[in-house]
Formats: sequence, structure tokens, C-alpha cells
Amino acid sequence: MAILITGGAGYIGSHTCVELLNAGYEIVVLDNFINSKPEVIKRITEISGGTFKFYYNDLLDKSRLEEIFLENNIEAVIHFAGLKAVGESVYIPLQYYHTNILSTLVLCETMKKYNVKKLVFSSSATVYGVPERCPISENSHLGALNPYGRTKLMIEEILKDLHVSDTDWSISILRYFNPIGAHESGLIGEDPHGVPNNLMPYISQVAIGKLKELNVFGNEYPTTDGTGVRDYIHVVDLALGHLSALEKVTNSTGIDVYNLGTGKGYSVLELISAFETVSGKKIPYKIVDPRPGDVAVCYSDPEKAKESLGWISKKGINEMCEDTWRWQSKNPNGYEKSFEVESPHLLPVRVF
Ligand code: NAD
Ligand code: UD1
Repeated sequence: MAILITGGAGYIGSHTCVELLNAGYEIVVLDNFINSKPEVIKRITEISGGTFKFYYNDLLDKSRLEEIFLENNIEAVIHFAGLKAVGESVYIPLQYYHTNILSTLVLCETMKKYNVKKLVFSSSATVYGVPERCPISENSHLGALNPYGRTKLMIEEILKDLHVSDTDWSISILRYFNPIGAHESGLIGEDPHGVPNNLMPYISQVAIGKLKELNVFGNEYPTTDGTGVRDYIHVVDLALGHLSALEKVTNSTGIDVYNLGTGKGYSVLELISAFETVSGKKIPYKIVDPRPGDVAVCYSDPEKAKESLGWISKKGINEMCEDTWRWQSKNPNGYEKSFEVESPHLLPVRVF
């Protein structure tokens, strides 16, 4: 029996593939490399020593997906594939609705057809919009602020409707807080296209000398030092959360939503300071205007995942910074090395 991983070449997917292989799972990975590189596949194998089938495929290609279900004995699916850049989603909303919603529909229709009804889905803390209070529990008010966030909310609703229609489905919806860090080997990590939008990859590119200085978006928030506070979670802890969710969907039916966070918040200046300490690099920064749409404070209540999944995050802020720095210094240009994809089913990769 195999686990299908959609978007398995991406940042969180690649770390999850490693942990699944380490735990002895058989995996089948699908990705169209729209936001990742073929090199990551080789590195997953290198770290884990495991082998797996990889399909260079667009999830929107239903007939190809059906072939994947016919060719493999798939038991459950972890669904990471999708577009994730908040700013970009405002400019090309149709592309976001098309890719994120339609690919999920295609996936669920195919799963239904082949009687595979166990699913773990990547949602986001972005569905909480402006939080009413912190820590944020799963039953907090929902209200996404941009098209990307709305795709996540809509998919959550679609999955709930699906479960109402057929209670054999077993679904875990995981709302991630702010994933950072990298595998301790330094072989896989976050490889953003162009100038990073998110804080940690920006800091690490300043540290390596690719960017001159960090813009800190506002220092007048009602926080200890005036800068924004977030719940940063190590990507390996996050990956392990998927193994716990997979066990849950394998051993029970029902649909549930879980926060995956640490429950602790760090400010922008605290993260800079932690990164400087572990890397020995100075991070020059200047305070600029707040980024429109940003919230002051956002951190999780992770109790439900602890109670129901038996999962807690273990890695602290220093390990998150150390592992990010190891990845960045070993791979100053990310996955620049590439290799030919050996697949008879090459599809054109869309480039924005
Ligand atoms: P990522 O972009 O690194 O990974 C997504 C992968 O999906 C990429 O490898 C991409 O090539 C692939 N993909 C996209 N569309 C596809 C399609 N139509 N067919 C096949 N493959 C496709 O993103 P990530 O950071 O690993 O995030 C994984 C999931 O978690 C996403 O759904 C994202 O929205 C969600 N999420 C991420 C964060 C974060 O901060 N990284 C936070 C909350 C939620
Ligand atoms: C962003 C996304 C959110 C997504 C989350 C995790 C936006 C508006 N929101 O949120 O949907 O779920 O990432 O992937 O993009 N900061 C700086 N300078 C920078 C970058 C960030 O000061 O160059 C600050 C921000 O103001 C914030 C903190 O750092 O206070 C974290 O920012 P970021 O990494 O972008 O994450 P989120 O804002 O939580």
C-alpha cells in the first residue's frame, strides 16, 4: 500500500517525503515543478536512502492521475500541491482558484472513483484572517484576506461537504503556522523564486550576501518590541505532524481540523537576533512602513493536535535558525544543480 504525495517536491512536501521514507512508508510522489526543481527528488533519496516512484505530472491532468491510481496501490493521499504566494494571488486570482480548487476537485473525484478515501490536506493559518485573540484555536473566527487564503477556506468547505455526503471519508485538514528551517543535512530546504516575500528566507539571503538589508515592516505594533509576532515552526516538526495525521486518517473516519504550530510567538527582531547568534552574521535592517494586510500577532493553540494526534513540535527557534543557515550556506543558490527528469509523461511546466 502506498501514500500518494501531491506537491512532494515542494518545501514542506520534500521534508514530509523524507520522514515518510524514514518511517518505512511506500510513497508515490507527483509534482509539476511549477515551484520546485527536479534536484530535490534526488536529494530526498540521498537523505533517506529510500526509493520511490515520481510522476512529473500536473494534478489537473485527470486521465494521467487515474493512470497513477491504476498503476499503484494507493491507500491515502497527502495533498500539498497548489500555488501559495499571497501577493501573487491578488494579481492572478483566476490562476489561484483554477489551480488550487480545480486540482483538489480532480484529486477527490479520482480518489472517490478508486475508493481511496483517506486524505491529509495542507491548509494555512491564513484562514483565520485577522485573529480575534491569540493563541488561535481551531474554532476561532475564519475570514481569509486574499485570494490564496480564500482558496484554502473554500477547499476546507468542499472537504466538509464531501464528508457529509459520504462518511467513509477520513480527512485531516492541517492549518500550518509559519514553517521555517530545513532538514539537518542541509540538503533540502526552502528555495523561493526571486526575492523572497517571507521573513526567514529574506534574512538568510541577507546573511549569505545575496540581499543587502532587510526591511522590517513596522515597529509600532502592540508587541514587546513593536514588530510583528509569528508562530514559527520547524519544517521537520511540521513534516512529522503529517505522519501523525496520516495515522489518524488511516485508523479512523471523520473530518477534523488541526493547527500545526508551536504555540509560541517570536517578533521580527527576536528572529533576527536568534539568526545572528547562530550564524555569526550581522543582519543589517531598516524599519519601513507596515506591509498592508499584515496582522500584529499570530500564534497557535496547538493543544488539539497534541490531544488528538499525539503530535507536538520539538525544535526551538535556535534549531530553526541553525538549520536554515546550514541549508542557505551549503546551497547559496538553492537547487541550482538540476538533472533530466526521466519520465515518459513530460508535460509543459507553466511559468508565470
Ligand atoms: P511549495 O510551493 O514549495 O510546494 C508546492 C508544490 O506543489 C511545488 O513543488 C509545486 O511545484 C507543486 N505544484 C503546484 N501546483 C501543482 C499542480 N497543479 N500539479 C502538480 N504539482 C503542483 O509550497 P510549500 O511551502 O511546500 O507548501 C505546501 C502546501 O502547504 C501548499 O498547499 C501551501 O499552500 C500550504 N502552506 C504553506 C505554507 C508555507 O508557509 N510554506 C503555510 C501554510 C500553508
Ligand atoms: C505570510 C502570508 C501568510 C502565510 C504565511 C506563512 C502574507 C501577507 N501572508 O504571512 O498568508 O500563511 O506567510 O507562509 O504574505 N516581515 C518583515 N520583512 C520582510 C518579510 C516579513 O518585517 O521582508 C515581517 C512581517 O511583517 C511579519 C513577519 O515578518 O510580521 C513574518 O512575515 P512572513 O514570513 O511574510 O509571514 P506572515 O506575515 O505570517
